[in-house]
Amino acid sequence: MASIETVGLTKNYGGLCAVDGLNIEIKDEIFGLLGPNGSGKTTTVLMLTTLISQTRGSASVCGYDTIKQPDKVRSCLSYVPQDMAIDTNLTGRENMMVFARLYGIENPKDKVDELLGIMELSDRADDLAKTYSGGMRRRLELAEALVHEPDVIFLDEPTLGLDVGARKKIWRHIYSLNRKGMTIFVTTHYMDEAEQFCDRVGIIDHGKIAALGTPSELKSQLMSDVITVSIDGEFFPVSPDGLNGILYVGNSGDEYSFTAENGREALPLIADALKSSGNRVRSMAMREPSLDDVFLQSVGKQEEEQGFEELKYRLMLRRR
Ligand SMILES: Nc1ncnc2c1ncn2[C@@H]1O[C@H](COP(=O)(O)OP(=O)(O)OP(=O)(O)O)[C@@H](O)[C@H]1O
Ligand SMILES: [Mg+2]
Repeated sequence: MASIETVGLTKNYGGLCAVDGLNIEIKDEIFGLLGPNGSGKTTTVLMLTTLISQTRGSASVCGYDTIKQPDKVRSCLSYVPQDMAIDTNLTGRENMMVFARLYGIENPKDKVDELLGIMELSDRADDLAKTYSGGMRRRLELAEALVHEPDVIFLDEPTLGLDVGARKKIWRHIYSLNRKGMTIFVTTHYMDEAEQFCDRVGIIDHGKIAALGTPSELKSQLMSDVITVSIDGEFFPVSPDGLNGILYVGNSGDEYSFTAENGREALPLIADALKSSGNRVRSMAMREPSLDDVFLQSVGKQEEEQGFEELKYRLMLRRR
C-alpha cells in the first residue's frame, strides 16, 4: 500500500490554480518535492496534512482519505512547517513536553529525554530555545515531530537558511528516520541535497509535476555532457544554426547551460555561436549532468510555450 497517494489533486485560490491535477504515489521512501517559489509545494503539503481542503481530486495518507478520515490521517503523520514552529520563550525540553502532553504520551519525560538525545540536544535541553542556533531549532522541531511515532513525516524546507554543516546533520537524521521505517515527504530548494538523499524526486512547476523519478533516472534523460558558459554583461540571442544536437537547458544568473551527446565537440560550436552574436564569454566548462540541470530544463516550460520567457524562447535550440 502506498503511504501517500493523490489522484488529480487540485487547489484553486480564486482564479489561481496553485496545484493542478497532481497524481503521485509514494511508498516507504524519502520523496523530495522540488520547485521554484510559488510552484505549489506548501499548498500540496497543506492538503496532504488535512490543514486545507482541495478544490478537486483526492488524497490519502496511510490509506486514509484526507477529507473523509482527517483524524486518522493526522494520527499517522507529523508535519514540520516551513516557518519555525517552536516557542522560543520556552526551553527545548519544555517545548517537547508541550507536544508530549498534547499527544497524551505515556511517560512523557522518558520519551522527551530519548528524542532530545536522538536529535543531539540533551546538553542544551534546559536552555531557552531563543538561544538555539537555526540548526538546533530545526532539530528540536524534528524531535517534536517524532513524539507520537508517526508513519509519515512532512518536512517543508527543513534546511532553509542553515549552513552546510547544519544541513548535513538534518539530512543524516532524516535518512536514519526513513531507515527506521518512516516515509518522508520533504520539500527543498537545494538540488544537491535532493540528489544525495531522496530516493525519488518530483519537480513541480505552476502546480504541475514536470518531472518525476529517481535522481539518476532524471539525469539520464539529459544528454551525457553539460556545457556551462558564463557571459559578461548583456546577453545577445543566439542563432540555432549549426547547433544541431545541442540542447539549451536554461540559465541561472549569467551562467547558461547546454547539453550534448559529445561535449568536446559541442564546446567550440557553442563558443563560436555565442561570440558571433556579440556575447562576451568569460568562461566555459564541461561536466556530467546534475539534478540542477534537470530542474532548469523542467521549470519554465509553460512560459516558454506561451512565448513569455523571452530569453529562453529566443535562444531555444532543438529540444529532443
Ligand atoms: N492562502 C492563499 N491564498 C491565495 N493564494 C495562495 C494562498 N496560499 C498560496 N497561494 C498561492 O499559491 C501558489 C503556490 O504557493 P505555495 O506556497 O504552495 O508555493 P511554494 O512552492 O511552497 O513556494 P515557496 O518555495 O516560496 O515556499 C502561489 O502563487 C501562492 O501565491
Ligand atoms: Mg513553500
